[in-house]
Amino acid sequence: MSERRVLLIVGGGIAAYKALELTRLLRKAGVAVRPILTRAGAEFVTPLSLSALAEDRVYSELFSLTDEAEMGHIQLSRSADLVVVAPATADLMAKAAHGLAGDLASTTLLATDKPVLMAPAMNVRMWEHAATRRNLETLRADGVHFVGPDEGAMACGEWGEGRMAEPEAILQAALALLAGAGAPPPAIAAPGPLAGRHVVVTAGPTAEALDPVRVLTNRSSGRQGFEIAGALARLGARVTLVAGPVSQPTPAGVSRIDVESAREMLSACQAALPADAAVCVAAVADWRPDEAFGVKLKKGKDGPPAIRLVENPDILATLSAAGPARPALVVGFAAETNDVEAHALAKLKRKGCDFIVANDVTQPGVMGGAENAVLIVSRDGVERWDRAPKAEVAARLADRIARALNA
Ligand SMILES: Cc1cc2nc3c(=O)[nH]c(=O)nc-3n(C[C@H](O)[C@H](O)[C@H](O)COP(=O)(O)O)c2cc1C
Repeated sequence: MSERRVLLIVGGGIAAYKALELTRLLRKAGVAVRPILTRAGAEFVTPLSLSALAEDRVYSELFSLTDEAEMGHIQLSRSADLVVVAPATADLMAKAAHGLAGDLASTTLLATDKPVLMAPAMNVRMWEHAATRRNLETLRADGVHFVGPDEGAMACGEWGEGRMAEPEAILQAALALLAGAGAPPPAIAAPGPLAGRHVVVTAGPTAEALDPVRVLTNRSSGRQGFEIAGALARLGARVTLVAGPVSQPTPAGVSRIDVESAREMLSACQAALPADAAVCVAAVADWRPDEAFGVKLKKGKDGPPAIRLVENPDILATLSAAGPARPALVVGFAAETNDVEAHALAKLKRKGCDFIVANDVTQPGVMGGAENAVLIVSRDGVERWDRAPKAEVAARLADRIARALNA
């Protein structure tokens, strides 16, 4: 990552303070950061703080003799591998959606030929306003990537969707884009029924931090997901594999993004869109500790700590939700220990995906093993596939996905 460069546009919202932490995290990950601070942004954070953390000067004015002489706005818009807008205000989104170029930030967004990642932040009513929804759809259709916003308490005292994604989630989404996910498909696609298609696959467990050394995780090996990613690539698909912490080798022709937590996995998936299909194989932790302690928890006379769990975002349901970014085909996996068919049918309805691949993980050798016995549950009915090596199940599923996409 040492060669990678981000142009970071900081808009005028309360969340601008989180852009400082994002800058620090990007620098720590070896990414060069060149900041653009809007006039409104400078009401919230100082150019000095941003410049010190970025280790670069801050650009603010379009009509600035020094800025234009030193680096013209067009050159500035091309000086990075990725443009990140955090916070992306309602105003910046509106300007970008309409191609306005009245200041340095919006001119840069119009002039850039690089991928753009926006982290919106605004009051819930502003976020839900029909105008912002229209702008969001326009920007998505223009190929802009989004991370967040999250739901939660807001600085204005209201509750809802509109909080900027956490800096760590924006970092992961940015790293995913810098790693090539979301890049346009190669001009000459590999031959095969999935040539020209982009498929996002998730695999492995997630690890939810309790403190710097302890995590909440599960026994998923990632094997089935990795086999599926490889099988899809062999059919010609451009595959983005978002992997939790596993020790599997990356299949040939697959672009891999490593993540740890469920929130990072979701951000990486969203940043990788648009996609023709999403195959959610990962065993995502349903819950995470509500607090990840910054230092290792110690034994003490008070006894063991009480750990409160909070719910993780639902990646399958989020990717299945209707909207312009929804892949045409969303496939979910269900690891069940009882009533496999009934649970899979219920999951299909609950999550809104197109089919569920269900497996009985009580069978010996399935979880972490080399074989799988699955049911394919869709609105058309239930198919039972005989127990077979995971590579065979993957090849059959890839064929099935190709047929569904080409139908
Ligand atoms: C205290 C305060 C907080 C604000 N927070 C936000 C915000 O979170 N999101 C947003 O879209 N606009 C917010 N605004 C409004 C923007 O600052 C305003 O639309 C501004 O013109 C945005 O400029 P920019 O997009 O060039 O940064 C806030 C304004 C004030 C005074």
